[in-house]
Amino acid sequence: MKLAGFERWLKETMGLDASTIGPTIVDRALRERMAAVGSADLAGYWQALRASPLEQQELIEAVVVPETWFFRDREAFAALAQRFGPGGAGERAPERLRLLSLPCSTGEEPYTMAMAMLDAGLSGERLAIDAFDISERALAKARRAIYGNNSFRGSDLQYRERHFSPVPGGWQLGAAARERVGFRQGNVLDIGFLPGAAVYDAVFCRNLLIYFDPPTQARTVAVLDRLLRPDGLMFVGPAETGLMLSLGFVSAQLPMAFAFRKPGATDAATAGAAVAPARAVKPATAKPATAKPATAAPAPGKRASPPAATGPAATAPRPRTAPPTATAPAADASPLQTAQRAADDGRFDEAIAICQAQLRERGPSVEPLHLLGLVYGAIGQATRAEDSFRKALYLDPAHEETLMHLALLLDAKGDAAGARVLRSRAQRHRKHESRSGDRA
Ligand SMILES: C[S@@+](CC[C@H](N)C(=O)[O-])C[C@H]1O[C@@H](n2cnc3c(N)ncnc32)[C@H](O)[C@@H]1O
Repeated sequence: MKLAGFERWLKETMGLDASTIGPTIVDRALRERMAAVGSADLAGYWQALRASPLEQQELIEAVVVPETWFFRDREAFAALAQRFGPGGAGERAPERLRLLSLPCSTGEEPYTMAMAMLDAGLSGERLAIDAFDISERALAKARRAIYGNNSFRGSDLQYRERHFSPVPGGWQLGAAARERVGFRQGNVLDIGFLPGAAVYDAVFCRNLLIYFDPPTQARTVAVLDRLLRPDGLMFVGPAETGLMLSLGFVSAQLPMAFAFRKPGATDAATAGAAVAPARAVKPATAKPATAKPATAAPAPGKRASPPAATGPAATAPRPRTAPPTATAPAADASPLQTAQRAADDGRFDEAIAICQAQLRERGPSVEPLHLLGLVYGAIGQATRAEDSFRKALYLDPAHEETLMHLALLLDAKGDAAGARVLRSRAQRHRKHESRSGDRA
């Protein structure tokens, strides 16, 4: 049995396309597991793997990328609260609001959904969040709900004061948010995964599809489509927006929230019209996205890996059902917000043009340079992306998101040492911020 055989097994079992996480990760995971079970070679380990469901789970645990943090892509949670909170266009009163986080990893994402909804004024009894992940280890941490500094990133940590209390080894999430979330182990690719249909008002499936090949992505999106109500919102990661557009989903026009409506659905909130029934996504016929993450995930144990791109490769198919308002920016939007919205919608040339105009007119500044880096990354122009990120860092050496995205670019081109330096810079900065926050 060769490495390729194990890679095939991982793809069939959990969807992982080994090429998305770099060649060494699976190899290293296999060595770790061979040592743990005492197999002398790959053939021996193959026997052990086939014979033991427990060992199969161990191998899965060794290759998953559990990277996550509270309020990751903050605008997604603001959009969720605005849409489904009291007075929002999607308010479900008197019913319960039902939300899905898949994959939930160590719990930061579904707990953030709970905090955002509670902070928006939704009463706890009217909120139910289901959270699934394939990793038992990640779920054990999620249920414990005690988190260290790595889960609290960025400078706005007011939510921590409201929802957490300090305990030895970190911060314990309070019961109000904890009790809203139910965790279960699940593999989205299992035939019997959550049978039934259309039960969730919003689905968060962020930073999973980037690890799958196009047929597996389409298969997964078909499952999510079945679980999402016709007028529901689907949230994906920044690097997964192109895929959703290519499968006919429609941008929900919520800048930087990476939110989509079902194919064929109209936005009842803005159009004031009835919601059209969803057209099922058919994995067999759906055009696969050409986007592949332009990045490799880092080694186990050093798993800082937000995606490096905001969208698809330049060749990604255009949306099949773009709403007529798709390109209309809000009248009072700043140029940068307009550029962000364009990037969010996959209009990358427009986003680049706006950022470049900003830089010409106003001189160098971090935000347009960072956005340019993301957009160039999304369309596969790695050198330009790197150049833009480096210029942004020249202006703000501690810009955490830029540090993390540039680290992924360096990983992808094989510069692991360079990537490590950037990640430890980001970590140092995070610790410093956190200490300043604790003092405040
Ligand atoms: C990078 S984390 C994403 C967490 C969170 N959604 C976020 O964006 O912060 C990816 C997670 O996907 C889980 N995963 C991988 N394959 C899966 C599968 N086939 N079914 C369910 N979860 C899976 C991993 O265990 C890991 O926790």
